[in-house]
Amino acid sequence: MCNLQIGSYTKRVGDSRALLLRWTSTNAVQSADTSVDRNGFKENNMMPPFPAGSQSDPLVIEKSEGSYIYDVNGKKYLESLAGLFCTSLGGSERRLVDAATKQLNTLPFYHSFWNRTTKPSLELAKELVEMYTASKMKKVFFTNSGSEANDTQVKLVWYYNNALGRPNKKKFISRYYAIPRMHQNFDLPMPFTLYTDCPHYWRFHLPGETEEQFSTRLAANLENLILKEGPETIAAFIAEPVIGSGGVIPPPEGYFEKVQAILKKYDILFIADEVITAFGRTGYMFACDKYNIKPDLVSVAKVE
Ligand SMILES: Cc1ncc(COP(=O)(O)O)c(C=O)c1O
Repeated sequence: MCNLQIGSYTKRVGDSRALLLRWTSTNAVQSADTSVDRNGFKENNMMPPFPAGSQSDPLVIEKSEGSYIYDVNGKKYLESLAGLFCTSLGGSERRLVDAATKQLNTLPFYHSFWNRTTKPSLELAKELVEMYTASKMKKVFFTNSGSEANDTQVKLVWYYNNALGRPNKKKFISRYYAIPRMHQNFDLPMPFTLYTDCPHYWRFHLPGETEEQFSTRLAANLENLILKEGPETIAAFIAEPVIGSGGVIPPPEGYFEKVQAILKKYDILFIADEVITAFGRTGYMFACDKYNIKPDLVSVAKVE
C-alpha cells in the first residue's frame, strides 16, 4: 500500500486489482451554478480525465441538439468546442443516429484479426484513402481514438525501421508547447522523444524578425538538433498542422516548407496529427492541403 500526495487529495494505491481514491480535501470548490445537480466527482465513483483539476461539482450534460447541449436541469448551452472538437456535424445528427442504428441492428461488432473484416471497414478505408489527397496514402489502420492513432504511429514507424534493418532509427521529434502538469506527473518526455522549437510566432519571434525569418531560424534549429543527435537515430517528426489545444496557432509563413525540406534531407518521416484539423475544420478537407504538407503518415479522428 502506498500513499501519493497529489494536489489536495490523497491517492491510495491498494492491491494490484484496484486503484482506490480516498478524498482528503475539505476545501473542494463549489460550482457557482446552483441549478446543476450536486453530483461532484468526489461524491460518485467516476474518475475524470484530469482529476486534480476537478474538485468542483461537474456540469452533468444530458442531451444535445445540433450545436447545443442541455444539462440535467434542462439548461441550454452553445457547445462552441463541439464536444472535444469531435461533434463537427452537431449533436444527435439524424443521419448518424440512423446509420449507427442500422449497423447495430445488423452487426454491432466484429474484428479484423485472422484475415477477417467487415464491409463497412473496407469501404471506409477506401473512402479515406481516396479523400486524402495531400500525399498518396495506401492503407488505413483503424483505432478507437486520436491518442491510440498516434500511439500506433510510433509502433508502425518502429516496425518499419526494424523491417528495413535500421534498429537505431527510433527517436521522434515533436515541438515543445506542452501542458507541464502532463509531463511532470507522467514521467515525460520519454527517452526516445526530442523537442524542437514551437512555431508560435507571436510568442517566440525575436524583435524585428519576420514570420519567414522566424521559420528559417526554426528550421535551422531543427537541422542542428538532427545533426547533434545523429540522423541515423531519428525516425520521425510529428506535428499538428495547426497547434490546437495549445492555443489554435496556425504555422508561420514558410514553416512547413522549410521543415519538410530538412526532414527529407535526413530521411525522417513526417507524421501529421490531423486529429482536430481534418475533415473541413480549416476550410480545406485536410489541413495538410492548406499548408502544403505531404506527410508519410497521418492521424485523423474525432468525426461524429
Ligand atoms: C491534436 C490531437 N491529437 C490527438 C488527440 C487525442 O485524441 P483523442 O481524444 O481521440 O484520444 C487530441 C485530442 O484532442 C488532439 O487534439
